[in-house]
Amino acid sequence: MSKAFPPVEYSEYLKLDRLLGSQEPKSAAYGKPAHDEMLFIVVHQAYELWFKQILHELDSVRALFRQDSVDERSIGTAVARLQRVVEVQKLLIDQLRVLETMTPLDFLDFRDFLVPASGFQSLQFRLIENKLGLRPDARAGTERTAPEARLTPAARDALAASRGEPSLFELVEKWLERTPFLESPGFQFWESYKAAVDAMLASDRWTIETNPTLSASERGVQLAELELTEKGFAAVLDEATHERLRAGGRRRLSFRATQAALLIHLYRDQPILHLPFLFLTTLVDIDEHLATWRYRHALMVHRMIGAKIGTGGSSGHHYLLGTVERNKVFTDLYNLSTFLISRSALPTLPPEVERRLGFYYPRE
Ligand code: HEM
Repeated sequence: MSKAFPPVEYSEYLKLDRLLGSQEPKSAAYGKPAHDEMLFIVVHQAYELWFKQILHELDSVRALFRQDSVDERSIGTAVARLQRVVEVQKLLIDQLRVLETMTPLDFLDFRDFLVPASGFQSLQFRLIENKLGLRPDARAGTERTAPEARLTPAARDALAASRGEPSLFELVEKWLERTPFLESPGFQFWESYKAAVDAMLASDRWTIETNPTLSASERGVQLAELELTEKGFAAVLDEATHERLRAGGRRRLSFRATQAALLIHLYRDQPILHLPFLFLTTLVDIDEHLATWRYRHALMVHRMIGAKIGTGGSSGHHYLLGTVERNKVFTDLYNLSTFLISRSALPTLPPEVERRLGFYYPRE
């Protein structure tokens, strides 16, 4: 017998009284009603609702990755939830078009009533950044107004608390460091990757040095380019170089986590690595969609207020453009592509290792 639950009424369940009673244009309150302020409020509120959903998904994925060992089912769940975040982000980018039906002049009808309110003060947006793993020092110094300076004390506390928890970046780094496949009997991934890279670079050098169609100066140019590639690979192959770049802020992921991420990318066709590969790819998708939103928002701000400073006190368009590159979280995962080698150059896995990485059913 299933338990009887009390009947639910649509508007009561969704708290529509509160939700739909929460649009209070300032222009009307000041006796100068501006038609487009309703759109401005509704769009922002819709954003905040979606931010809430994004945080719900991010929190659940962080909880899954806080375990000492993350099983395959959890990775599948994490991928599904993060892909949902990406779909929401696509809506968020598209939603700016609705707001852009408001002209700059229509915006000026009510803009002055809003000072100093600004998206700058969106606690949920800052929580998303923190929980993904944006480091405070990545943004410090370059902004006229630190994002937190204008938050309410309660919002500041909530933000500080979120910094005390491990971010998705940190949890992913730990998970990568635990990858069991870097060393197996008969297969040392890093040694065989190094050997494959050396062979590939030596073959490139031989091709340039023996190419009869190149003039001496063309050969010089190509060899100089090859040296740059060699230096690039040295930066990932040598731990001391990696640590130096990390100390200088040019790398963030630990050496071992970087090795594991490379292994996952290079051997992603192996069944057991496929889901981790999808997971890493989805993290890059989230970062890329956030950067796309930042850029689209900056363009909209330019067309809406030109070069004026923002209501939050920043330089406006100029500041926002700067955040597009600087505020990426998973840059190390983007950079992995630099160090990929073609499938044909990839060391063949010993059968025992291949068996461990696959789930094959014996044929009858
Ligand atoms: C007419 C439309 C809009 C204008 C003119 C505008 C303008 C600005 C400006 C100038 C800033 C920089 C901070 C400041 O000095 O105020 C900013 C930041 C921000 N805005 Fe908007 N905005 C608009 C719509 C939106 C919408 C719909 C959202 C959605 C929630 C939003 C979210 C944000 C966020 C999260 C920031 C902080 C970004 C960061 O610091 O990285 N804005 N906005």
